[in-house]
Amino acid sequence: MASMAAAERIVLGVSGGIAAYKSAELVRRLRERGHEVQVVMTEAATRFVTPLTFQALSGRPVRCSLWDDAAEAAMGHIELARWAQRVVVAPASADLIARMAQGRADDLLTTLLLATAAPVLLAPAMNRQMWAHPAVQANLEVLRSRGIEFVGPGRGGQACGEFGEGRMSEPAEILARLAAPPAAEGRLRGRRVLITAGPTFEDIDPVRFIGNRSSGRMGFAVAEAACAEGAEVTLVAGPVSLPTPAGVRRIDVRSACQMRDAVMQTLDGQDVFIAAAAVADYRPREVLDSKRKKSGQTWNLELVLNPDILAEVAARTPRPFVVGFAAETEEVERHARDKLARKRLDMIAANRVGQPGCGFEAGENALSVYWHGGGAEIPLADKSEVAARLVALIAERMGQAG
Ligand code: C5P
Repeated sequence: MASMAAAERIVLGVSGGIAAYKSAELVRRLRERGHEVQVVMTEAATRFVTPLTFQALSGRPVRCSLWDDAAEAAMGHIELARWAQRVVVAPASADLIARMAQGRADDLLTTLLLATAAPVLLAPAMNRQMWAHPAVQANLEVLRSRGIEFVGPGRGGQACGEFGEGRMSEPAEILARLAAPPAAEGRLRGRRVLITAGPTFEDIDPVRFIGNRSSGRMGFAVAEAACAEGAEVTLVAGPVSLPTPAGVRRIDVRSACQMRDAVMQTLDGQDVFIAAAAVADYRPREVLDSKRKKSGQTWNLELVLNPDILAEVAARTPRPFVVGFAAETEEVERHARDKLARKRLDMIAANRVGQPGCGFEAGENALSVYWHGGGAEIPLADKSEVAARLVALIAERMGQAG
């Protein structure tokens, strides 16, 4: 089970963006978990949410300015930078990211960010065009190379009415990220992890395919969680519309055969293989070059078996620590343990499917995890929290396997 970080002293930086309202919820949740939270707002942030809101939720006066004599007398900004065991900036606006990348100290928050030795986690939030801008991406690269960590952004509807990448991660995702140790001390530091995620699409002709409802969210969350634990992560993704988690190397594929090839080409030197993809078991025997015309009352489509990527990886020597997923509706443990043995896996994570709010398309999940001679339950929670717990279990079991 992932250890929730012990109570910490957290500076929560809030910069100017509409997502600042979500940070109020984040403060509440951090306090519930016993953390002490000192909120520091930029001037722009105060235009979106009042300091009073954060003061009430955090139980501490909010700091907004370098030039507040009374606050500085109580705890100077350098003292505050030392007090922090973690700094989280949510939302981190394009402007804040740019000022950090330049090493500016033109307000209290940027000054603190320079003066602190604590690990820093940013939850970026901005319009999708801004997020995609090369200037923003270059600034992110600079910060990443300095050891700054990121959570999100996600993809979805934006306050500006557009749809795309740039939405701030939900408080639950930020909390799950904080529960993992900083990547530099992570339990998978120095390990290489290969993950498959999403569905596969098996083409019938240029316009039709056989697919499934996998959203890819579980596999992407596992990739992000493994990255947060310090692993070097490669994600082989089927067709999904999800942003690549920061720091993850992504290879996009469409069909099961392409996924198999990408996995086999990347497998050498991997320490862990996690098969979270919902790979189609069968594909059409042939892919038609042109659209098949409607004719007759029935259509018999001949399907052939796809390669079992997971079983193929597990059959290799030497091989990584191999983790499979199983979606079961009944007798979860018996079926999952049977698959564990049959595919020669080191661990299997069983999804209880067929329950509302859980599994394929849902944002939450619960897993029953089995290995030879043991098992663990991961209760229903946000997929990022479930992923963090699963990755912690993998790290623990690998440790025991030597
Ligand atoms: O046997 P079943 O399809 O239920 O096994 C599911 C597990 O096997 C998942 O981890 C899935 O990613 C993996 N798998 C695979 N290649 C296939 C079919 C399933 O890697 N062709």
